[in-house]
Amino acid sequence: MIIIKSPREIEAMRRAGAIVGRFFEEVKTLIRPGSTTLSLEEFAEEFVGRHGVKGAFKGYLGYPANLCTSINEEVVHGIPSRNRQLREGDIVSIDFGVVMDGYYGDAARTYAVGRIPESSLRLMRVTEEGLSRAIESTRPGNRIGDVSAAVQETAEKAGFSVVRDFVGHGIGRALHEEPQVPNFGAPGTGPRITPGMVLAIEPMVNEGGHAVEVLADGWTVVTRDRKRSAHFEHMVAVTEEGCMILSLP
Ligand code: MF3
Ligand code: CO
Repeated sequence: MIIIKSPREIEAMRRAGAIVGRFFEEVKTLIRPGSTTLSLEEFAEEFVGRHGVKGAFKGYLGYPANLCTSINEEVVHGIPSRNRQLREGDIVSIDFGVVMDGYYGDAARTYAVGRIPESSLRLMRVTEEGLSRAIESTRPGNRIGDVSAAVQETAEKAGFSVVRDFVGHGIGRALHEEPQVPNFGAPGTGPRITPGMVLAIEPMVNEGGHAVEVLADGWTVVTRDRKRSAHFEHMVAVTEEGCMILSLP
């Protein structure tokens, strides 16, 4: 069942999303060679305390941290660690969510660490472009398959592939609600998009093949070919005219 949100609920989700957006503005200043992913997690812990909110991920299905920090071939769900230092040339995907007044906010971005290869820059640009195209397709009259196809076409035209084993999702009083929002699919298929839906759209795009696997820690998702992967996520609310991005400061 897809839960339609009232204007008041969407205002509450905008407040949660604004805090998530603010987090990204602040955390990007900490991304540089030598920073450990644990130091980013410690910043997140301080940030949620300062804003009087709860991290959405810590404790979710036993996940141990507020952040997912996924470097290079890591796709999503990398666990922050004192033993992982960012190095010049890396790309790092940061995924962060909060729960505020009972509503979730969720977003992700991939950052360059210092100077990175041109191919990684292109991977990041294409993934973010896929998210933009997906957001443009999120409007009443369209279906979820139109959103999925926008990501897939953008990624595949650039010679990249989309992850199939993890998808975007509805969001509200739960982190994950219906509908699923895959990053692949055919236009004109899937659930109809209607005003009051709130969706977390999150393209995960691989430089190589689409196959992924989970490491022995039970969480970290990596590309099977160990080529790099990028991840961008926004939470959007469907309006009469289109949609509004909620996860911006
Ligand atoms: N943004 C991710 C998602 O939407 C974050 C989940 S990480 C988890 O699923 F640890 F909480 F599972
Ligand atoms: Co999400």
